[in-house]
Amino acid sequence: MSVSRRKFLRSASQLAAGAGLATVVPEPLRAGSRAVSANDTVRLGLIGCKNMGWANLTSILRHPGVSCIALCDVDRTVLHSRAADLAKMTANRLPAEPKATLYGDFRKLLDNKDIDAVIVGTPDHWHCLPTVYACEAGKDVYVEKPIANTIEECNLMVAAANRYGRVVQVGQWQRSGAHWNAALDYVRSGKLGRIRTVKTWAFMPYGKQFPPVPDGPVPAGVDYETWLGPAPQRPFNQNRFHGSFRYFWDYAGGLMTDWGVHMIDMALSGMRVTAPRSVVAVGGKFGFPDHAGETPDTMQAVYDFGEFTLLWEQSLGTARGPYDREHGVAFIGNLGTLVIDRNQWEVLPEVEGGKYLTDALPTQRKSGDDLSQHTLNFLECIKSRQKPHCSVEIGRDVAVNAQIGNIAYKLERRVFWDAQQGAFLNDPKANELTKAHYRAPWKLPKV
Ligand SMILES: NC(=O)c1ccc[n+]([C@@H]2O[C@H](COP(=O)([O-])OP(=O)(O)OC[C@H]3O[C@@H](n4cnc5c(N)ncnc54)[C@H](O)[C@@H]3O)[C@@H](O)[C@H]2O)c1
Repeated sequence: MSVSRRKFLRSASQLAAGAGLATVVPEPLRAGSRAVSANDTVRLGLIGCKNMGWANLTSILRHPGVSCIALCDVDRTVLHSRAADLAKMTANRLPAEPKATLYGDFRKLLDNKDIDAVIVGTPDHWHCLPTVYACEAGKDVYVEKPIANTIEECNLMVAAANRYGRVVQVGQWQRSGAHWNAALDYVRSGKLGRIRTVKTWAFMPYGKQFPPVPDGPVPAGVDYETWLGPAPQRPFNQNRFHGSFRYFWDYAGGLMTDWGVHMIDMALSGMRVTAPRSVVAVGGKFGFPDHAGETPDTMQAVYDFGEFTLLWEQSLGTARGPYDREHGVAFIGNLGTLVIDRNQWEVLPEVEGGKYLTDALPTQRKSGDDLSQHTLNFLECIKSRQKPHCSVEIGRDVAVNAQIGNIAYKLERRVFWDAQQGAFLNDPKANELTKAHYRAPWKLPKV
């Protein structure tokens, strides 16, 4: 790559990383539900209530000045049990909280003009439409990672947030973590010397036992047609449903888009880059060939960023990852290596002639609750109209990196990315895999 092209990529990425101009969200194209001022209570709706959506809601409700007035889920059992949980949680609040309105169709929830902002906690194949429609309806959005299941959807979400002037916070909550930010500042300080490799990984002990099960009847109370939504039609199978949808390409991208976006996001931020030149990935269902999922339990992806390499490693069903950590990021410099995970970070200096080449920092522990800081930042940005810590652009950039890795894996070869075009170089097969193909009656939104 030429020096000037490298410089362009780096400066474009610095802008996207928030080091540049765009710190305020654009003015709304048309009026939203209402402008939320400093003393207003923010009124929330939750779409997708089971696991992470609920974790986000409980986190945000611990902050003052926020209330949940609507819940939506396509599984009525989940919906009613979360409605009961919410009522219990807010029972002692003064003034008394209104009872949340319950919905099975997120479009009806979005029609509710009293709602200022929504949390989107649905599976990955259901992130794009609720986010785009929420932006159109003038609501701010906290959307889970990865922001979408295809590159095409990621770009539409960025376009919608900007066109309608909405605050969109993505659930990569490391962005609000104090120990992550301290470590990334250290990386950028130059104290590690020239960084030639960043390792990122997730070795997760779960997922060992996941035998195939026959297709079966749709559980009572589940609107399965809507759960499938834009994904291809197929009979109901318990394995492909709540939680474990992660192992199936129609809805998600395996460990790469589950944990990869969290860890690779930190690598991109530390190195102030957004897009690789090329990626090669190798893997398969090597650990558990009989696992019912489609996504690989084992994969290594190597990203070429021109001046350094980024390595992603995933292993489902084993926990002894690099540096004996289940997940993490290691910035490997000429003078030392900084290793970080969700609990702590440390610097392992290189040694020469019996001397450390850089400071040997003692272990720096995590302090505080990173998710809480992230949901607080979302609330603050709803009022200030500042860009949140994990803007939709940041969410798009890392989701694109993860998607490129999975596309290289699927094609079993090296793929070359043109960051300016946002497309693979002379590669129709790879470019086809960036596209979203929605099942009728759902349509990819036009922004
Ligand atoms: N940030 C994090 O640390 C973190 C952690 C876990 C999960 N996640 C992300 O959160 C998302 C959800 O994961 P999960 O584990 O909570 O999944 P889950 O399957 O446990 O819950 C998803 C819920 O969404 C509901 N749903 C599906 N389609 C819907 C629709 N069209 N309208 C309304 N509700 C719908 C389901 O019925 C279910 O209740 C995923 O994208 C995942 O990657 C993020």
